[in-house]
Amino acid sequence: MRCLNIDVNLGLILVLLLSVPIIIKASSTKDGYKQCENTVKHWASSSFNSEIKEDKHLLRDLLFFLHIPRTGGRAYFHCFLRKLYSNSQECPRSYDKLRVDTRKPNCRLLSTHDDYSIMYKFPKEKTSAVTILRNPIERVFSTYEFSVEVAARFLIHPNLTSVGKMARRPRTKLPGVSTLDIWPWKYLVPWMIEDLFARRDARKHRGQSYTMTNNSYDMQDILMPLHEYINEPIVQDIVHNGATFQIAGLTNNSYITESHEVRHCVLKYPTLGKYVLEVAKRRLDNMLYVGLTDNHRESATMFANVVGAQVISQLSTSRSNGDIVNNSDSEQSSLLSDSLTDANYQRKNSYKKVKKVSSIGKDEAANKNMTVGELMEAYESCISNLRNSQAERRTKSLKQISPANLTKEGRRNVPRALLQKITSLNSLDMEIYNYAQSIFAKQHARVVQNMVDTKRQETTLIESVYNNSYGSPSWKFLSLGTAGDIIDKFRELTEENKCRISQKKKVTKL
Ligand SMILES: *[C@@H]1O[C@H](CO)[C@@H](O)[C@H](O)[C@H]1NC(C)=O
Ligand SMILES: *[C@@H]1O[C@H](CO)[C@@H](O)[C@H](O)[C@H]1NC(C)=O
Ligand SMILES: *[C@@H]1O[C@H](CO)[C@@H](O)[C@H](O)[C@H]1NC(C)=O
Ligand SMILES: *[C@@H]1O[C@H](CO)[C@@H](O)[C@H](O)[C@H]1NC(C)=O
Ligand SMILES: *[C@@H]1O[C@H](CO)[C@@H](O)[C@H](O)[C@H]1NC(C)=O
Ligand SMILES: *[C@@H]1O[C@H](CO)[C@@H](O)[C@H](O)[C@H]1NC(C)=O
Ligand SMILES: *[C@@H]1O[C@H](CO)[C@@H](O)[C@H](O)[C@H]1NC(C)=O
Repeated sequence: MRCLNIDVNLGLILVLLLSVPIIIKASSTKDGYKQCENTVKHWASSSFNSEIKEDKHLLRDLLFFLHIPRTGGRAYFHCFLRKLYSNSQECPRSYDKLRVDTRKPNCRLLSTHDDYSIMYKFPKEKTSAVTILRNPIERVFSTYEFSVEVAARFLIHPNLTSVGKMARRPRTKLPGVSTLDIWPWKYLVPWMIEDLFARRDARKHRGQSYTMTNNSYDMQDILMPLHEYINEPIVQDIVHNGATFQIAGLTNNSYITESHEVRHCVLKYPTLGKYVLEVAKRRLDNMLYVGLTDNHRESATMFANVVGAQVISQLSTSRSNGDIVNNSDSEQSSLLSDSLTDANYQRKNSYKKVKKVSSIGKDEAANKNMTVGELMEAYESCISNLRNSQAERRTKSLKQISPANLTKEGRRNVPRALLQKITSLNSLDMEIYNYAQSIFAKQHARVVQNMVDTKRQETTLIESVYNNSYGSPSWKFLSLGTAGDIIDKFRELTEENKCRISQKKKVTKL
């Protein structure tokens, strides 16, 4: 009996001993969750309270282009915004977080990969925000491909030491900000460079032998397979749900200390994502314009009509009020262009132009008294230059990882299960994207309604846009890509054109 008792007691003690740490662990997770829930809820309610109630459809003094990476924003920046605003009207060094200069009080345009938290640095009631969203799966593909594309350029170096030497060389003399200075590329690209070099070194060790597959998205001897990429901690932190986090102001690049705590909580307890989503939706609601990369034709036209038209009228009003644009600081502020990703052709040209302009003390690089139609025409030729130079650049740098080649056809070999994985890793972005589509539809309806209401001269443009007649000239310029993945669009378009041409041929034969 005694023995049994001891056994029972021992057993009890053992049970207690074993369960204590479990209980402690369970309650600390629970506390952690509660604490996080409070943090996130508090952040969400203070975000709601700070929203401005005024008419969101009117362009305010400062236009903030919240540029979500890989949504095609660069095309809008170079081919619309740079045609509308002069260099002196841009808030300086926009793409560089460290040097955004909010002291320049009268800047009119801010275009950056910064998240929404930068809005707190500007008077909110004077700022209008615009953004573009993209199908999250496409955006993940594009982010992966762009990380590889930029990193592959460095493979011309014999080893990482030599890359490091080059990277330490001062870049300040160049009239541009390098991709390596810009969030999120400043994290994603160096990481990918190291990975590509490690795989190349491993191949050398094995005597150049590697397994060939016909799927470049899964060719691990050459580059990080997509299925590995999406599970990397850095990608979890920076890429997945990146659009939602950026609109909510919660990226890893946020200006607000609280944001980091909120982000960590949401990454730890995904159910808290619903609060973030609500904030992001309200912010989208209050934006002047929301575009969709995947509807590039309509988005560009809408941009010209909603944003372009208002900028033109705002700037011409301020000019006629004797508010002379001072462009003498244009050389410094024009530094914000991105020398690695943009069209050098564009860059050089506008740089020259600006120099000339400032030397005669007049501003004609932008702010011309242009119509929306002229804006669309300028956009057309600009986008085709941008597209060509980006395609060239991409082909050239992907040669470095041959025989791997990241092409649209290659994407079709990516297993369905992997696509589903990407979808589930981006559940917040899937929702915000759906929401953006509904905003886009409303915006479209409103613009069309306005056109019906006021038969102004420039609005006839939009009519021809929605005129499906194939032969109309407007179809041509609207069909040109505005997307982040300009090469893809280009390929699509050439295919479309081929189809149209062959259709035409058939028709004539008949
Ligand atoms: C890296 O490359 C440079 C230039 O070819 C060479 O001088 C150096 O020895 C290399 N370093 C290593 C660690 O291989
Ligand atoms: C890829 O390779 C496999 C096996 O070699 C083959 O069965 C498959 O048809 C190939 N797919 C394509 C798209 O070439
Ligand atoms: C952002 O992410 C990068 C890469 O994961 C990391 O190195 C950096 O420290 C992060 N920054 C913050 C503020 O968390
Ligand atoms: C233009 O800017 C320069 C330098 O910022 C300043 O010295 C000059 O007075 C300004 N001119 C006008 C007309 O505002
Ligand atoms: C701009 O053009 C409009 C219409 O053509 C004209 O009424 C206006 O005076 C022009 N403004 C300037 C500053 O040239
Ligand atoms: C990769 O694919 C593109 C498009 O199919 C092609 O133009 C390019 O030449 C290919 N590059 C290599 C290195 O095979
Ligand atoms: C739309 O197309 C029709 C014929 O397809 C044409 O008559 C009409 O003028 C076009 N409208 C515009 C605004 O281009």
